[in-house]
Amino acid sequence: MSRLIVVSNRVNPPTGKGDESVGGLAMALAAALREYSGIWFGWSGKTTTEFTGQLNMQKADGVTVATVDLEEGDYQEYYNGYANKTLWPLFHYRVDLTAYDRSFGEGYDRVNRRFAQTLLPLIEPDDIIWVHDYHLIPMARELRRLGVTNRIGFFLHIPWPAHQLVVTLPRHRPLVEALFHYDLVGFQTEESVQAFEGYVFNEVGGERTEDGRLTAFGQVTRAAAFPIGIDAEDFARIKESPRATRVYDRLMAHSVFRKMVVGVDRLDYSKGLEERLIGFERFLHDNPQARREVMLLQIAPISRDEVEAYQDLRGRLDGLIGRINGAYADMDYNPIRYLNRSYRRDELAGVYRASKAALVTPLRDGMNLVAKEYVASQTPYDPGVLILSRFAGAARQMKEALIINPNSPEEISDALTRALNMDIDERRRRFESLMDNVTRQDVTAWRDDFVAQLREPTPTPALTRQD
Ligand code: ADP
Ligand code: F6P
Repeated sequence: MSRLIVVSNRVNPPTGKGDESVGGLAMALAAALREYSGIWFGWSGKTTTEFTGQLNMQKADGVTVATVDLEEGDYQEYYNGYANKTLWPLFHYRVDLTAYDRSFGEGYDRVNRRFAQTLLPLIEPDDIIWVHDYHLIPMARELRRLGVTNRIGFFLHIPWPAHQLVVTLPRHRPLVEALFHYDLVGFQTEESVQAFEGYVFNEVGGERTEDGRLTAFGQVTRAAAFPIGIDAEDFARIKESPRATRVYDRLMAHSVFRKMVVGVDRLDYSKGLEERLIGFERFLHDNPQARREVMLLQIAPISRDEVEAYQDLRGRLDGLIGRINGAYADMDYNPIRYLNRSYRRDELAGVYRASKAALVTPLRDGMNLVAKEYVASQTPYDPGVLILSRFAGAARQMKEALIINPNSPEEISDALTRALNMDIDERRRRFESLMDNVTRQDVTAWRDDFVAQLREPTPTPALTRQD
């Protein structure tokens, strides 16, 4: 069988000890690569004064991890710049936070070129290459320029936004054209596929081929939805682990007369953290009897802290939490417990299980794996209730969650009331259906489906490419 080369900006095989940086991509790829003896290539997380292209190679769990350092200027323009000040906010519908500096786009293209040049010597003729996320959209074009003819697929972990948002990018055409150098382009949801097609058909006059692919820019590609999942088998194991049980017991002992609600997110403005807190405040306001009884545990590790929008959000959250705790705390009760740190996965499983409800309220999210992890950590005897934003990709699959609009404090408050008073039969019924989905559409199914479709032979280039 041909080797799989996975390419992503963040190459951070989780150790499971809570010391790795968090995020859905690293979690999913570590799980996906576990069964392939492939290569995982990307940024080392380190910067140098000058780019050397020096590969650092390590072997871990049958996976060869190959990383390269970034030059400081590249890191600023490509990672802090185009990736996190341009594409991330725009693709999450935050035009107000989007920076359109030309130098960011130049740095982005330069890093993609450098990554392609560094990866080139590792590629063997039969390898299939799978590139991930918005940092690396131009990778296939750069590899093709270097003569790589292997099959190359791309998966976008975040939403693809509406046509009218994409065109606010000064160089939107080359960005979209870059996707046509892949054999297969995967999105989290059908909604993203349709938004992408909307751009292709309406902005650049692209068409659908007879076999269902897309043609534009004189190229052909295939776009489809591949909803990502969690490593459900691994979660089933770790939720029974001694450490998960210890955390669960400890939290339960501290909340004998209390009900805990949990939120777990990178500290990111797309996650709807402020809206969640305001919804929780509304809940406390509307339900005086809940004031000493219900507490919110919000775990939010700091993310992308060199970007101003993230620093600002952190300041606003500190203020908001201070206000709510100031208004509703008592000598032996704090409504919100707020933690800016990472935890081991087994510890998180214990936290999820001890929580009567989870608030997963992003304003936009490609998928949201926390929603799936929360469900996977419950037991059929006494399952908690998932409250989920309609704007998370996960809401398309997890219909038995309490689906809310995170912009409405009243909807959040009502959903909390409903979740905390839900009878055991309804909780079980909802849990069983959600768990079935989390188990069936797990990370293995996602990987196998994508890789199988990427391997599928397509008509010869002479028949499909119009150049
Ligand atoms: P994103 O990729 O935008 O961060 P997801 O919800 O898809 O959002 O994935 C987040 C991942 O990061 C999940 O696997 C979650 O368990 C993990 N994570 C989030 N916060 C923490 C934390 N404090 N400690 C450990 N892991 C965390
Ligand atoms: O899952 C979305 C994502 O943007 C990943 O691409 C990324 O690795 C993760 O969130 C965490 O962000 P960062 O890599 O910037 O710390």
